[in-house]
Amino acid sequence: MCVPENILTNADLEKMVDTSNRWIVERTGIYTRRVASGAESNADLGAVASRAALADAGVSPGDVDMIVVGTNSPDKLFPGVGPTIQGMIGAGRAGAMDVQAGCPGALYAMGVAAGGIASGIWEKVLVVGSEVISRLVDWTDRNTCVLFGDGAGACLMGPWQPGMMKLTHADFKADGRKGDMIELPAGLAAEPASLATVRDKRHFVKMKGNDIFKFVNREMPGYLQNFCADCGIGTKDVDWWIFHQANMRIIDSLMRRLDLPKERAILNVDRYGNTCAASILLALQEGKEDGRIREGQKILLTIFGAGMTYGAILING
Ligand code: UT7
Repeated sequence: MCVPENILTNADLEKMVDTSNRWIVERTGIYTRRVASGAESNADLGAVASRAALADAGVSPGDVDMIVVGTNSPDKLFPGVGPTIQGMIGAGRAGAMDVQAGCPGALYAMGVAAGGIASGIWEKVLVVGSEVISRLVDWTDRNTCVLFGDGAGACLMGPWQPGMMKLTHADFKADGRKGDMIELPAGLAAEPASLATVRDKRHFVKMKGNDIFKFVNREMPGYLQNFCADCGIGTKDVDWWIFHQANMRIIDSLMRRLDLPKERAILNVDRYGNTCAASILLALQEGKEDGRIREGQKILLTIFGAGMTYGAILING
């Protein structure tokens, strides 16, 4: 994983918009988030995480077959972050692409990787979730600017061998009718950049936060119960829940509805805020690094975002 060094606190935000540390902590559970410096690109963060994942796996960049990057804040629409990282890390044999699926981008990327590996197209796939979402946030809009943070996570996937974690189940959903709950309206083909789009700040994230809050509380508990049933397990059989690190209140509410003790979740929303497509990979890495995630455990990754896309993956550690 890789997070920028620059830390933005709630006290900093109090000086920027009409908000308070108390409101942010009570409504979101976020204390700090990381913000990329002007010199740090999405691909820079993703490349650091990628090199770390490859070093951890003992695989050299030249042996990677494919790079799939989930992101909502690509440095450019094209070329994608995937090809840029491919060039930066010297993965000369690898194909590379981005997956744009809202915050579940890296979860979807894991599904793409699993499919390509299972069909025999690829053997070693680097999956990355990378964001410099701070560049697409309106820093005068208190509804959004307190929530988001930058960072990147990466993992290497391949045909299962002893000693590796095993992705056993995956499921992906979307409800495109609710596409207006969170969007970045302008700057592309629907509303090309113009003086008006700049004046109206339509190339920044627009979000109906409370609608998302209700959508997640309505849809996700039943969805996750059904997903576990399809995996042949109960929700209590999962050792570690890795929820989208969007808002502590949403995680609390999902865990209450699923009747799960809080200790079963790996959390970092308090320190990093909502890092969008990087969110679940950062939590996975932290859980692995500090020894909470161990061999033989079941880890469930689940996330929602713009689309409204959502999904879940079960891993046997
Ligand atoms: O990756 C997916 C991305 N999005 C999400 O996951 C967002 C999910 N939603 C949320 O996290 C929550 O809905 C928020 C944290 C965004 C908002 O919390 P809420 O409890 O749903 O608040 P609200 O939107 O209903 O707003 C309550 C009040 C409003 O004031 P009035 O109209 O009641 O006077 C807002 O204007 O809180 C106000 N408010 C703020 N006040 C201080 C909104 N943002 C702030 C702020 N500081 N930063």
